[in-house]
Amino acid sequence: MSSNVHLIDHPMVQHKLTLMRRKDASTNSFRRLLGELSTLMAYEVTRDVPLQEVEVETPLEVTTGKVIDGKKLVLVSILRAGNGFLDGMLEVVPGARIGHIGLYRDPQTLQPVEYYFKMPSEMHERDVIVVDPMLATGNSAAAAVERLKQLKPRSIKFVCLLAAPEGIATLQGAHPEVPIYTAAVDRELDSHGYILPGLGDAGDRIFGTK
Ligand code: URA
Repeated sequence: MSSNVHLIDHPMVQHKLTLMRRKDASTNSFRRLLGELSTLMAYEVTRDVPLQEVEVETPLEVTTGKVIDGKKLVLVSILRAGNGFLDGMLEVVPGARIGHIGLYRDPQTLQPVEYYFKMPSEMHERDVIVVDPMLATGNSAAAAVERLKQLKPRSIKFVCLLAAPEGIATLQGAHPEVPIYTAAVDRELDSHGYILPGLGDAGDRIFGTK
């Protein structure tokens, strides 16, 4: 696997992912597990965020400590399933800003078309973490990263729960410098663009719309 793909193989992540894959997992438990998983994944994804030294007064003396500037982080959700990642990640970085990108697939060209784009100001000072549970064809992910690059953020990472080899190839082909964090790389896409073995339609399972 490419060195820019980070497989988060912590046993707790793998355990929860397996529970989410079960077709009889309820909407309630699917959503709860996704929240827990995204909190766990956030630890790994934020491993290299910059630290600043600050003075801190303990009950005994003054010393220096290190803090992150959470406000410099932007979690960008690819609608709608990306929203399922937000609350869990915010447990780890509660000060992060949130952006949203909405894309749909044009039925004629099959290319992603943007219908919504809302980001915080001063993106050139921020580090972006794009979230979408499923990296399937990779077309939406590549289009989202392309659009974000216009705002010249300091860095961009992509985080998903499951990736298909096809999606990794598409995203890395278009944006080789963007690291991909995933809990699993599955076998392949089916003819409808679903990941196999996968977990079905992540949006439907998060929001109970099936
Ligand atoms: N989106 C999903 O929700 N599931 C897939 O398997 C592929 C894309």
